[in-house]
Amino acid sequence: MNSKQTPHTDASNQLATTPINQFDKKAHAWSARFNEPVSELVKRYTASVDFDKRLADQDIAGSLAHAKMLSHVGVITPEDLSDIQKGLSQVQAEIESGQFVWSIDLEDVHLNIEKRLVEIIGDAGKRLHTGRSRNDQVATDIRLWLRSEIDLINVELHALIHALAKLALEQADTIMPGFTHLQVAQPVTFGHHMLAYAEMFRRDVQRMRDCRNRVNVLPLGAAALAGTSFPIDRHFVAKELGFDDVCRNSLDAVSDRDFAIEFCAAGALVMTHISRLSEELVIWMSPRVGFIDLADRFCTGSSIMPQKKNPDVPELARGKTGRVNGNLIALLTLMKGQPLAYNKDNQEDKEGLFDTADTVRDTLTIFADMMGGVRVKPDAMRSAAKQGFATATDLADYLVKKGLPFRDAHEVVALAVKTCEIQGCDLSDLSLEALKAYSPSIETDVFEVLTLEGSVNARSHVGGTAPVRVREAAQALLNEIENSH
Ligand code: ARG
Repeated sequence: MNSKQTPHTDASNQLATTPINQFDKKAHAWSARFNEPVSELVKRYTASVDFDKRLADQDIAGSLAHAKMLSHVGVITPEDLSDIQKGLSQVQAEIESGQFVWSIDLEDVHLNIEKRLVEIIGDAGKRLHTGRSRNDQVATDIRLWLRSEIDLINVELHALIHALAKLALEQADTIMPGFTHLQVAQPVTFGHHMLAYAEMFRRDVQRMRDCRNRVNVLPLGAAALAGTSFPIDRHFVAKELGFDDVCRNSLDAVSDRDFAIEFCAAGALVMTHISRLSEELVIWMSPRVGFIDLADRFCTGSSIMPQKKNPDVPELARGKTGRVNGNLIALLTLMKGQPLAYNKDNQEDKEGLFDTADTVRDTLTIFADMMGGVRVKPDAMRSAAKQGFATATDLADYLVKKGLPFRDAHEVVALAVKTCEIQGCDLSDLSLEALKAYSPSIETDVFEVLTLEGSVNARSHVGGTAPVRVREAAQALLNEIENSH
């Protein structure tokens, strides 16, 4: 700011001596308008560079596109553009090699990079910020960053779905008890159970893609909040950066973080699905249940109990779901009280967002590997399926097919189950005579129905647990993933 334009105040003595080019001289004061620097604590409190330096690549890409546009519309000269391009590529090289000196005196990633650019190329660097504000700059950087994170997460989601579908194909015939209320309900195939999770993760992919559509819109051009008086070409910048469109309202562009909230919500759902799967893995690996074993590299031992092999990875994933949920609530709360347009509150959007992306991505990578190596124990599953009268519904369905109304059939089977409980046997252990006592329409073909295989094979409609359907569904998923690359 030019000090001559600054209204005189009681500090006018100081103003007269404040250098105009403060940006490249005194890092701690913002402009000629300020009479004193912030305290050390306030500086640390307001700085974000420690975490937002993660956006450096996106910041440079955004600046390059902005500069190219400024030159395209004649606001800066082609010489300035070429200086900016050279300067920014040097800055990028310095950052990559670790030589770049980040300073909290310069608050955030944007000012750090711009300051260094000015050091390297001089006046052309000072022209870069023409028609732009950090408000539209940071919104652009986050969107660029999030767009590529979503793409990476979808790769991992696909890997996990692939692992689950492969496991489902291998275990299409493996019978386990299906549960409701964690009580044995009906027999299902383990492959079917795996495919249930594959469906959840498939919807997660769709949610991420859908969210990406709203992330991939360009805020740049909104400047601080009201737009800019320079003859900018926003579509030019959008094209340079691969955005599908430009934000249609400048106030909205710099202020709302709904796209980040949406991503955190989609991430929270991914983790919710992971957490449910984890809960099952932990139960299944308990020696009491013993349905599966996880490879040693996903487990740890105990420092005191030599016999222990603990399913740490699923437990930790279940636990990490808590922080990912927390990040969502933090962002929602951050947003809810903000008047238009940009407020500094928004600087708090990043750490939670970064944490959600990192946690979701790492968790998925590990789970794809872990699920690919699950060791299934079919005997334990089978004997568990035999307890709990898992084929009782099949007997009721059988009676319905012989002409009984379903409610009567339900009652008949309930009585038969009661007898079995007293005798400590399964329905299939009852003799034909004993069964006939409950209903004369029962014949020898009933034993086919009472077997676990008979039960699962009978459910061969679309979405059913029959091995034939599971194989088909697993193969369709595998094809879908292979064709999506
Ligand atoms: N570091 C800031 C953020 O993350 C950049 C935008 C600052 N804008 C401002 N007017 N103070 O939101």
